Amino acid sequence: MKINFIDLQAQYREYKSEIDSEVLEVFSSAQFIGGEKLNSFENNLATYTGAKHAIGCSSGTDALLLSLMALDIGHGDEVITTPFTFISTAEVIAFLGAKSVFVDIDKDSYNIDPSKIEAAITDRTKAIIPVSLYGQCADMDAINDIAKKHNDIPVIEDACQSFGATYNGKKSCNLSTIGCTSFFPSKPLGAYGDGGAIFTNDDELAAKIRMLLNHGQNERYKHKYIGINGRLDAVQAAILNVKLRHFDKEVQLRDEIGSRYSDLLEDADVVTPKIAESNTSVYAQYSIRVKDREMMIAKLSALDIPTAVHYPVPLHLQEAFKNLNYDEGDFPISEEVSSQIMSLPMSPYLTEAEQDFIVQAIKG
Ligand SMILES: Cc1ncc(COP(=O)(O)O)c(C=O)c1O
Repeated sequence: MKINFIDLQAQYREYKSEIDSEVLEVFSSAQFIGGEKLNSFENNLATYTGAKHAIGCSSGTDALLLSLMALDIGHGDEVITTPFTFISTAEVIAFLGAKSVFVDIDKDSYNIDPSKIEAAITDRTKAIIPVSLYGQCADMDAINDIAKKHNDIPVIEDACQSFGATYNGKKSCNLSTIGCTSFFPSKPLGAYGDGGAIFTNDDELAAKIRMLLNHGQNERYKHKYIGINGRLDAVQAAILNVKLRHFDKEVQLRDEIGSRYSDLLEDADVVTPKIAESNTSVYAQYSIRVKDREMMIAKLSALDIPTAVHYPVPLHLQEAFKNLNYDEGDFPISEEVSSQIMSLPMSPYLTEAEQDFIVQAIKG
């Protein structure tokens, strides 16, 4: 049995005629940057999330970068975030000359632990970036309350893995000052290349972000800010528009497959994801904790079952962040989870037979 970690080819076969025709329309219109496809995708994103403004951009990384730029974050500023995430979350903080202040995660959700945030706030704290990891939102109400109490610190949800998830019935990306997502091909809503989006209900921030992602232009060749080239291509917008039409069905399938994994693995010697009652997860990753990860990966690999590790080294122990002067032991939960976590094949196209085979292999 040949199992894909994520089956993007099956998804293309499913929507091929719609995607092909949308892409060909872009080619024949020659409207490659901006235009109707992008506008319509942004409107659909806003409707989907309920956010007033949805702004397409070049990647999840750039969505985070542009958000921090819009908030004027730079040298001397501190941004609170989690060390148990993909590097982009903290990379953009460093890129702007600001400092990441890490806070450990909750042992069940693997998201930043709100009860530890307040102790990390200083006069220099200019933003908090919770990450909604693996497709489950961080405890955004608790985080927003803390931020509000401390002079309304802006909260940026790194929703690069959680587009489509809900928190207390509200959509991820529309839970705080700004939400950022990624359309990297393997994400729940994936483009055929890089892409991302920024969400906010704040008119001023939205207008500034739109300028920043287009070289800070407010009019053609008039530059109000130093910006970047951070636009989303029309081809990607056209493809994403097709996938967004079918997204609810895919989210439902992801939920069923994720829950089925957890049911089947209930009696196995592994820790399955714990989804809080307030949340629905899009299972961007279905990640379990195992005692002997090397052995489990080797066992599955011998049966041709692909796995991945998200993420083996927490950010405070990465060489790139050695200037932050953190040590081993500083964030014990992140360190423990990093040493045990592994992700199993997950996509709406994973069949029950494939899933049974994977579960048997884990238990065997
Ligand atoms: C939590 C998180 N943040 C940021 C990113 C960056 O997104 P992109 O790859 O689109 O730049 C990713 C993507 O892997 C991610 O998982």
